[in-house]
Amino acid sequence: MSTASRERFQSSLRRARKIAVLTGAGVSAESGIPTFRGAGGLWRRYDATSIASPEAWQRDPGLVWEFYNHRRERALGCAPNPGHRALARLEAVWRDAGRTFTLITQNVDGLHEQAGSRDPVRLHGSLWQVRCLACGSVTENRDVPITPAFAGSGSPDPDARARRFTAAELPHCRCGGVLRPHIVWFGEALEERDLAAAAAGVEGCDLLLVVGTSAVVYPAAGFVPLARRHGALIAEVNVEPSAVTSLCDFVFTGGAGEILPSLLDVAPEPAP
Ligand code: OAD
Repeated sequence: MSTASRERFQSSLRRARKIAVLTGAGVSAESGIPTFRGAGGLWRRYDATSIASPEAWQRDPGLVWEFYNHRRERALGCAPNPGHRALARLEAVWRDAGRTFTLITQNVDGLHEQAGSRDPVRLHGSLWQVRCLACGSVTENRDVPITPAFAGSGSPDPDARARRFTAAELPHCRCGGVLRPHIVWFGEALEERDLAAAAAGVEGCDLLLVVGTSAVVYPAAGFVPLARRHGALIAEVNVEPSAVTSLCDFVFTGGAGEILPSLLDVAPEPAP
């Protein structure tokens, strides 16, 4: 992207009263968290859609917990990168100026919150929450391994030998029910409350910034055409074209951690 379009983007950003940001796995790639699609996207021989699903849980909940145990272990050793921090700074500056800012993320790693983002809309849940299948309670849980039985399990190596976990080895709630990751799996509905908060942030926004998402998973991806219908300017930061690149007014090609800090280093224009 040329210096001229960068300047045009920054000038629109400065004037924006309402900003929405949609992020995906790419924003955490430079923190060392693998994305779902593309290189490094497979866990053993499985892709995300075949393991993050109610069907996979029905077949083998121990295998699904192994996958999440691995992702939790990996995420625990990762820190927010300059891209997460630039978004948190933008939010603080915009909110301090009395403007509206909504961060909508498909990520479950918690790195936006760690970077200082105040209340991101987490469309797909959290790696750090578990839900009881019996009593329905959702609790914070940072145990790695998730239970002692899962210690050392979850290697992504395609030749890793999967062992069958017994029902007693699965994580359990105080009430005795089995705990599952509090993550929205393929084929499951998103929380109404989150969808409403995301839609409220996008409708009527002046600018939607789309960072590090392939934009192929709905309903998250649908927020881009929604913003377009509402007349927002749309900017994308990604290392390669996504499914929504053709809807974007500005396309910045490169890593989020590399591009966002200087791109977003602007102050809002004082209100007239
Ligand atoms: P994907 O793995 O589908 O896409 C990651 C995107 O990030 C791709 O478009 C990459 O080009 C881009 N990317 C990679 N490195 C980047 C970097 N350093 N800077 C900027 N962009 C970069 O991930 P999502 O779009 O988040 O759902 O996937 C959506 C959902 O599908 C996920 O939330 C997950 C997954 O299955 C659930 O777990 C329910």
